[in-house]
Amino acid sequence: MNIIEKHFMRYFLLLFWVGLVFSCKTSEEPKIGLITENAMVVSAHPLASEVGKQIMEEGGNAVDAAIAVHMALAVVYPEAGNIGGGGFFVIRNQDGSTHSLDFRERGPLLAHRDMYLDEDGEVIDRKSIKGHLAAGVPGAVDGMARAHERFGSLPWKQLIQPAIDLAERGFVLSEAEAAKFNRAKENFNQYSTVNPSQFTGKEWEENDTLVQSQLAETLKLIRDQGRDGFYKGQTAKYIVEEMERGEGIISYEDLEKYESTWRAPLEGTYKNFKLITMGPPSSGGIIILQMLGILEDREISRNGEAYAEYLHLKTEMERRIYADRATYMADADYYPVPVQELLDRNYLSQRFQTFNPEKATPSDEIAAGKILSMSEETTHFSIVDPEGNAVACTTTLNGGMGSSVVVDGAGFILNNEMDDFSIKPGHPNMFGVLGGEANQIEPGKRMLSSMTPTILEKDGQLFMVVGTPGGSTIPTSVFQAIVNVVEFGMGMQQAVNEPRFHSQWQPELIFYEKEGMDQGIKSAMENKGHSFSERGGIGRVDGILVLPDGRLEGGADPRGMDEAFGF
Ligand code: DON
Repeated sequence: MNIIEKHFMRYFLLLFWVGLVFSCKTSEEPKIGLITENAMVVSAHPLASEVGKQIMEEGGNAVDAAIAVHMALAVVYPEAGNIGGGGFFVIRNQDGSTHSLDFRERGPLLAHRDMYLDEDGEVIDRKSIKGHLAAGVPGAVDGMARAHERFGSLPWKQLIQPAIDLAERGFVLSEAEAAKFNRAKENFNQYSTVNPSQFTGKEWEENDTLVQSQLAETLKLIRDQGRDGFYKGQTAKYIVEEMERGEGIISYEDLEKYESTWRAPLEGTYKNFKLITMGPPSSGGIIILQMLGILEDREISRNGEAYAEYLHLKTEMERRIYADRATYMADADYYPVPVQELLDRNYLSQRFQTFNPEKATPSDEIAAGKILSMSEETTHFSIVDPEGNAVACTTTLNGGMGSSVVVDGAGFILNNEMDDFSIKPGHPNMFGVLGGEANQIEPGKRMLSSMTPTILEKDGQLFMVVGTPGGSTIPTSVFQAIVNVVEFGMGMQQAVNEPRFHSQWQPELIFYEKEGMDQGIKSAMENKGHSFSERGGIGRVDGILVLPDGRLEGGADPRGMDEAFGF
């Protein structure tokens, strides 16, 4: 096993550890998800989906619901839901206008390119992954405040209160959730400077109630003071004190200066569909548009041997595109990402000239394409409101329970997003993806992401809202959900349930889900030179599909406890 494979394997063990991995459930009968007339939320936790539904019943719009769901997930899904992390909103309003909000974490002002290397220039094990130095400056609270300023319709306080209630009164743990906290204990004890007793205070059992009093107080400050309740005053003091105790570098100035950014969403077409997705600092939108760009002129089928042809084609696209990711993709505020060139149809067809339908191209024969002019923890939720406004949000602490640092006094977990930078050229991050100069660490810069919250229009009308966690597997899982619906005619739930496959240039493997691989297809692909590796669930796609009669179908991923709520 080479170093990249080792890192990739380590990440998947980590996913297992945080309980993300569920065996793939396949079924004979097409599965149909919740169908509603007016509005829907699909998220990783039933309590958070319920909060979003309530907010819309109280007259809130999709952005109001998204803010409330984001805050609720910070309480009931603390391994990924967050106020100590960051993410992206992609918004399509009922009038057809589109927006994206980048509340991704940023490198602290004291961050520098070689901060995770020792004197010999070698990577210091786990330094970018666990502990105080792994944290980027959180963006989530600023993001929610800015989204509210621009599109919110209900009072801010009304949106934060449900999360406060969940933190203060507590919520009842399932068996899987209890096990997850028990597994996380060792890391919390090792990396937090003060015992985070709300998570580690006991051996958790099913039906225990988890109360998070410190987090409730922090949320009250946010409720009463907006973004200042997090970036200034008492919460900022707790964060900086935590940094001082743990030799971290996030300062008052970092917190004060953090600003999320409205960006034009990345848009592209596929046949009669328009995709509205996330551009840099995410690589996800570029990757799915590149893949769909190559796919557009080809015939694919889900049946028999033709399915092996499709999986071969998909793998070969992924190899080439993830090589482009390693070289060209980064925070475009700091590096000139050649977005239009990467999406250019001539570039894509040239890039694919070496494609052989009979044979896998070895990854070491693939490098990034030549551009002539340079011009696994996360969570996703999808929302459509009764007016037809839609929000796709993917948000993260990065790895499960982030840096495992709980800010004492403030009661929330800090992200370990710094590992998404390229900490040394050619050194894989925890998802096994490589990077170079484009994505090197710089103060204030955002680390390259794969998160791909995406909205589709069909013939100019809202059609689908979709996204997933899963690190580097995110863009390929979103791609598969889209292809399952658009090309294979599946409904939303069935598209989500379908077995997934993932490949990414390095390591040179196709990952498939346990019980998700047909032996005949596998042999056909092995004959073309592909190698496989079995793993647990890939991603947790949560989507909403607008049916031809205007009703909504939710697709909640059965790999987790994800659930759709609506009315
Ligand atoms: O932004 C990214 O691409 C990663 N930090 C996402 C991490 C993730 O999806 C882990 N969850 N499974």
